[in-house]
Amino acid sequence: ASLEMYVDALPQMPKVLGYSIKHGRPTPTHLTIGMYQKKWKFHRDLPPTTVFVFGTSVESATFPGPTIEALQGVPLQVTWDNHLPDRHILPWDPTVPTAIPRGGGVPTAVHLHGGVHPPQSDGHAYAWFTAGFRERGPAWTTPTYAYPNVQSPGGALWYHDHALGLTRANLLAGLLGAYVVRNPAAEAPLGLPRGDAFDRVLVLADRSFYADGSLYMNRTGDNPGVHPQWQPEYFGEAVTVNGKAWPFLRVARRRYRFRVINASNARFFNLSLSASSDGLSLSLIPLHVVGSDTSYLPRPVAVTHLLVAAAEAFDVVVDFSECAAPEAELVNTAPYPYPDGDAPNHLNGKVMKFVVEPARVRDDDDDSRVPARLLDYVKVAEEDAARRRYIVLYEYEDEATGDPTHLYINGKRLEDPATETPRPGSTEVWEVINLTQDNHPLHLHLATFQAVRARELDGLEEFKHCMERLNDAVRCDVGRHAVGEEVAVPEHERTWKNVVKIAPGFMTTVVVKFLMVDTGRSYPFDATAEPGYVYHCHILDHEDNAMIRPLKLIK
Ligand code: C2O
Ligand code: CU
Repeated sequence: ASLEMYVDALPQMPKVLGYSIKHGRPTPTHLTIGMYQKKWKFHRDLPPTTVFVFGTSVESATFPGPTIEALQGVPLQVTWDNHLPDRHILPWDPTVPTAIPRGGGVPTAVHLHGGVHPPQSDGHAYAWFTAGFRERGPAWTTPTYAYPNVQSPGGALWYHDHALGLTRANLLAGLLGAYVVRNPAAEAPLGLPRGDAFDRVLVLADRSFYADGSLYMNRTGDNPGVHPQWQPEYFGEAVTVNGKAWPFLRVARRRYRFRVINASNARFFNLSLSASSDGLSLSLIPLHVVGSDTSYLPRPVAVTHLLVAAAEAFDVVVDFSECAAPEAELVNTAPYPYPDGDAPNHLNGKVMKFVVEPARVRDDDDDSRVPARLLDYVKVAEEDAARRRYIVLYEYEDEATGDPTHLYINGKRLEDPATETPRPGSTEVWEVINLTQDNHPLHLHLATFQAVRARELDGLEEFKHCMERLNDAVRCDVGRHAVGEEVAVPEHERTWKNVVKIAPGFMTTVVVKFLMVDTGRSYPFDATAEPGYVYHCHILDHEDNAMIRPLKLIK
């Protein structure tokens, strides 16, 4: 039986301040956040589900975890404490490179996605640890992470597990939460909706459940002879927002700011907001995009459809006075896998509902606005690039069945020596070539980057065969193939991002900044220290097997 939609109110996750106030001034603080096993209600009619979640205590732990609110320039320390049991609640697969502790326990590593922080605090896949730090991975250095919070305000960061080979299972279990960086002095003049009621985080995650409420994750792989459990993508039938399946939110006829984070393992959402009456869709309400990932756009861009890749974030303003109906439904039209998979069905094609208060007129108390201009950053400058690199995304298939067996970047494994070794403060151009069928959301730690164009590859098969032999884009004459149709980057994605969608059969040109160094400001840590960083596809099933590579900054 399927669950009735829109019966649970959208939760507001607990807020944890990433600073303290002393003598009226914000000062650095230290938090301890635990990972706990507990029960969570995803839906009124679903029995409680066993999850692994973050919280400042087991009682207050939530799915997703508390929203950490930090201030730009005010450093925060967090001790991430693993209180998880000896056994995982979800299946995993020892045939993909995996953290396997000798004495049992659930390995975890916590990464602040979008954070600009030292490598020792990055939650490297090899820096995992089990309960009480009893067992630790080879790159583990410290129980307490330092977040200088030097990156720009706006959008949303999120923290999530990053343990080797277990990221897909640990996130599916619930090890994720939002993190917002604010700069009140710089942001207040923008006049965007503010305060907890009108500036809200929406964490989207698709999940399937068994009838007893437990989380569904496949126990058998598509290709069990090679990988007994691993599958190339996890897709859930239910869409959860802030830990409830298809929730509703009562809103006033005024502006709201939503920081949307797609925390799904593999699902892309193509979101649109449809004014509806008695289930009948009337018209689309514009989404005013003001930021993406952790940056503002230079100016707001209104869209009717917003494609959000796995791990991508968008910061949008919705004006419900533009809703000509008593309700607005947030729907999803993105095929899964994206872009060539199945169209969403009546379940995963729905996200949540807004119940709009009846008053005909605009809320007089709403003094917020969608300003003409937002914030400006260092300009993208391809010509500043210290070098150009080719990054090739591959999927390997079982010759007999055609099923995917693993994915790599540049034909290399995570444990192979780092080949991407930029200097701190430098700019590079990465030509990212996607030889697979799927769109891969590419994520770089530490760095911010922007796609400037995507060009379709001609003679793809020939290029693929050459790459299989030589594994070298230049020797395979990539310039002769990257001559197809050029696709422009949507205006609402033209800012400094940490996730960029890489379309299949295209070469996407991205300009990468390894630390946005604004004039005169240097960062208070050594980005060249061990264990370095990583970059990877953020489809977690790809990342685990093993579309992930080291990113090592050198002096
Ligand atoms: Cu959102 Cu490497 O992670
Ligand atoms: Cu991928």
